[in-house]
Amino acid sequence: MNVLMVASECAPFVKTGGLADVVGALPAALARVDVDAQVLLPAYPPLFPLLPKGEEVARFDDLPGGPGRIVKVKAEGMTLLLLDAPQLFDRPGGLYVDETGRDWSDNHLRFGALSMAGARIAMGAIDGYQPDVLHAHDWQAALAPVYLRMAGRDTPRSVITIHNIAFQGRFGPQVLAQLHLKTDWFHPEGLEFHGDLNVLKGALMFSDRITTVSPTYAREILTPEFGMGLEGVLQARAGALSGVLNGIDTEAWDPATDGALAQTYDVRTLKRKADNKTALRARLGLDPSSTGPLCCVVSRLTNQKGLDALLEAVPHLVQRGAQLAVLGTGQPELEQGFRDAAEAHPGQVATHIGYDEALSHLFQAGSDAILIPSRFEPCGLTQLYGLRYGTLPVVARTGGLADTVIDANVAALLAKAATGFVFHDVSATGIALVIDRVVEAYADPKLWQSMQRAAMRHPVDWDSSAQAYRDLYADLAG
Ligand code: ADP
Ligand code: GLC
Repeated sequence: MNVLMVASECAPFVKTGGLADVVGALPAALARVDVDAQVLLPAYPPLFPLLPKGEEVARFDDLPGGPGRIVKVKAEGMTLLLLDAPQLFDRPGGLYVDETGRDWSDNHLRFGALSMAGARIAMGAIDGYQPDVLHAHDWQAALAPVYLRMAGRDTPRSVITIHNIAFQGRFGPQVLAQLHLKTDWFHPEGLEFHGDLNVLKGALMFSDRITTVSPTYAREILTPEFGMGLEGVLQARAGALSGVLNGIDTEAWDPATDGALAQTYDVRTLKRKADNKTALRARLGLDPSSTGPLCCVVSRLTNQKGLDALLEAVPHLVQRGAQLAVLGTGQPELEQGFRDAAEAHPGQVATHIGYDEALSHLFQAGSDAILIPSRFEPCGLTQLYGLRYGTLPVVARTGGLADTVIDANVAALLAKAATGFVFHDVSATGIALVIDRVVEAYADPKLWQSMQRAAMRHPVDWDSSAQAYRDLYADLAG
């Protein structure tokens, strides 16, 4: 079975969030169930060193935004198909935004080109390579299934995976021609959304299957509260929609071998985890004599993640004797808020603004708990890293967080099944109440350690979800 993945990021090469982790880890998991997945990705500057090592396998003159060529290269055990189109991707700044943080004004062309290249490859543009299924990820790849459908019925089937429905790719109708889209598909039953082109909606209308990254989120996005305006479209296609839970790369994230840690450990040598707490506190200037739990945040600093509410609960957290370590970047007011909190509570709160992959591993290993008070969370990966590292997740009951963490309620504790703390109300009060439960549980070392062991034994690998994707592909390919 051959599957062409189309995506705008892929770990470890280019990453802004969990999408990259998923696209970077899923192909290896699929290989274990006999699916060959190749990944079509834009050749952004960090990928330039790979280009001379690869082989040109296709050329297109007429993509949106100009010509591009496809370079096939093997790296990190993956087969990458890089879309080399310097006029679209050779620039400083972020993957989606310029150096001032504003969206690139030609994002429709950049990702339109990626999507069209994907559709062409699915239709056989590379000699000797015929994908059975095209699998597009998020709005950046969402036009690929649309272009396939435009080419007719006798093309490979397609799947769109929604990693976050908040990002839809909305552009004014004037871009339709630049994107070579059929103007007679521009109506509410097609590509139009309140007068605009909505790229993700296009994929929801024209893909054969729709998946999202957890079963709970798959149900939530059918409602106005979570559907971000696309709930009606999704309801109409509910028969094609399913939730497949993300896994994690259990080799890159293994406390027994992780080179970014001060000390490696596993479920039998859990005591050694404490060396990482010592190292993390030293690195961040946190008081080493504090006896409460060290709670961390590793996150984009946005309101999606409920971090404005956490900020309000910081005084309570400190007053209860817990410590807080924050690693993240994002909304300026949240960055400033957590900097101010660190200044107001020296030794108890530390904030590291920035994106640092290695440091994120030490945060996971060195903390007792990880706080994820998201308002919505399609899947979430940091709670899975927390489980794997015996760092108990404290999560809002939403999306994939609700599907992966077992709350320390009385029944779960009796069954020795609890792996974390789940709460409902994302507000300063709701967070304060769950912090109280964390502090009390931490004061009982036997209880805490038994929860850590349950967490570390909880399966977080890709195995069962890779099988679910394989079954879905097989279904589509007939
Ligand atoms: P999202 O994709 O919505 O940001 P996820 O939990 O799915 O949320 O994935 C976030 C990914 O980004 C995780 O791998 C997390 O460790 C990583 N991450 C987020 N912020 C940082 C940061 N400041 N430094 C390093 N890694 C980060
Ligand atoms: C998105 C979501 C996150 C999910 C990730 C990978 O960025 O916000 O919840 O884990 O995609 O699927």
